[in-house]
Amino acid sequence: MAEKFDFLVLGSGIAGLSYALNVAEHGTVAIVTKKESVESNTNYAQGGVAAVLAPTDSYESHIQDTLTAGAGLCDPDAVEVVVREGPERVLELAEMGAEFTRQQNSFHLGREGGHSANRIVHAADTTGREIERALLSRIRAHRNIQVFEYHFALELITEHHIGQHVTRLRPDIHCYGAYVLDEKADVVKTFLAKVTLLATGGSGRVYLHSTNPSIATGDGVAMAYRAKARLENMEFVQFHPTSLYHPDADSFLISEAVRGDGAVLRNMRGERFMPHYDERAELAPRDIVARAIDDQLKQSGDNHVWLDISHKPSNEILEHFPNIYETCKKFGIDITTDPIPVVPAAHYQCGGVKTDLYGRTSILGLFACGEVACTGLHGANRLASNSLLEALVFSHRAIGPSLDYASSVSKREVVPDWDDSGTEHPHEWVLVSANRDELRRVMWNYVGIVRSTLRLERAARRTKLLYEETEDFYRRSKVSPALCELRNMIAVAYLIIQSASMRHESRGLHYITDYPHTVEEERRSTLV
Ligand code: FAD
Ligand code: SIN
Repeated sequence: MAEKFDFLVLGSGIAGLSYALNVAEHGTVAIVTKKESVESNTNYAQGGVAAVLAPTDSYESHIQDTLTAGAGLCDPDAVEVVVREGPERVLELAEMGAEFTRQQNSFHLGREGGHSANRIVHAADTTGREIERALLSRIRAHRNIQVFEYHFALELITEHHIGQHVTRLRPDIHCYGAYVLDEKADVVKTFLAKVTLLATGGSGRVYLHSTNPSIATGDGVAMAYRAKARLENMEFVQFHPTSLYHPDADSFLISEAVRGDGAVLRNMRGERFMPHYDERAELAPRDIVARAIDDQLKQSGDNHVWLDISHKPSNEILEHFPNIYETCKKFGIDITTDPIPVVPAAHYQCGGVKTDLYGRTSILGLFACGEVACTGLHGANRLASNSLLEALVFSHRAIGPSLDYASSVSKREVVPDWDDSGTEHPHEWVLVSANRDELRRVMWNYVGIVRSTLRLERAARRTKLLYEETEDFYRRSKVSPALCELRNMIAVAYLIIQSASMRHESRGLHYITDYPHTVEEERRSTLV
């Protein structure tokens, strides 16, 4: 028996929840999410949401900062709509109950790298947690919305599942919903909907060191790829310069806002190094800071550098960064007196499922918003705190076209059930966990902050082997989140490696030693 809704939303981060609240005014909504609803990249966002709200700031300035970071690959129309519509979306979020940090009668606006003004709206250093809290409390009260936790989306349902041949060039592929594993009941359900929103977030966990929580395994990108959607710019992976270096910290993020507040970076000899790399020093865009740290570590052989904010008054540090203070304290670091050991870590996927300015993908009935999507906003590098903003703006812009599409189609009544004949529950989980570890190491060592043709070729060979072993395992096994995540991570790794190999220049986040310069003739998006 299929579950039937007007709208199916895959993912419960800022993109999925904002969209769900809006379309729920017009029909029934299922939100499918693979863990507890709150578990998302959104929930861990620290710095905030960039928006032009100060009288001294301007749209032109935010647009220019975004274009500069994007290194020639932003879609100027996407940048315009996000910057100009962003402030209204942020104010709506505040009206909905998100309590952002205030200063007298207005929002306190923080500063981050690459921004030429203070424009980051935040809730101390736990902005994402506050956004999720506010959105989820609305979601839970809405009678048109049903949330399915511990439900893992496996595949998008298209013509392929009703026996038709589908290629990436076919212009009229339709999405009818998704096959979803109900993890607790251990059964695969069919969710049918007129419109499906892919809001499954990013893929940071493809790398050994990542600021992302464990949900970020690129499931949406992989599902869309298998469904033959168009994807764009997968080589542009953003590494955050400052994650906490501690064996038990799972790459906990030390927000860019800490540098925005005056923290400086020093190497193990105590030398402040950023002014030698860029005149903006610690406030240079994060790709420059991450590469500078990488360079320092490669030269010295050290494991980390120091980030030091201890020269600021401790009451200010405690007020601005309570969560970072508490978390570091747990690891024996008092940030009001000690420098923080930091290293770069994979943070954000700039590319993804290609969408137009209304969140439409190349598949009819399938929309994508948030980190899973490539809207054209970020180009070759994302400006800090532009992603929560992007998710808000595009999940709003997608409403009109979603309603139009929903009213133009009838719900598909029948699709075949998930077919798992000939499979059994696997016994050797080590085959999955070992391949997952290996993949993450391969990506970290060969497809990281600095790349080379030789490293990419090596990564491609290793990934192909992991792909073959995992597909063989998958064909014989009943589906499980761990196995499907591994499959998805391998697909994402393949897309990153292929896209990186196709770009014969260094641009934005993609730095390759064989082609160290930016080349005007290479200035184009990478399409898959
Ligand atoms: P997410 O919030 O990641 O939500 C994805 C959802 O999809 C989750 O609910 C997940 O469980 C679900 N899901 C995934 N796969 C499946 C599946 N197969 N089946 C069912 N459900 C699935 N950006 C900013 O703009 N400002 C910041 O200050 C900032 N700080 C950050 C700090 C950290 C530590 C991190 C990791 C990111 C930060 N970012 C920040 C980036 C930003 O948080 C994300 O890009 C954004 O939250 C993505 O939102 P989303 O809704 O697209 O995805
Ligand atoms: C941070 O707080 O440094 C993260 C901001 C972002 O990723 O946009």
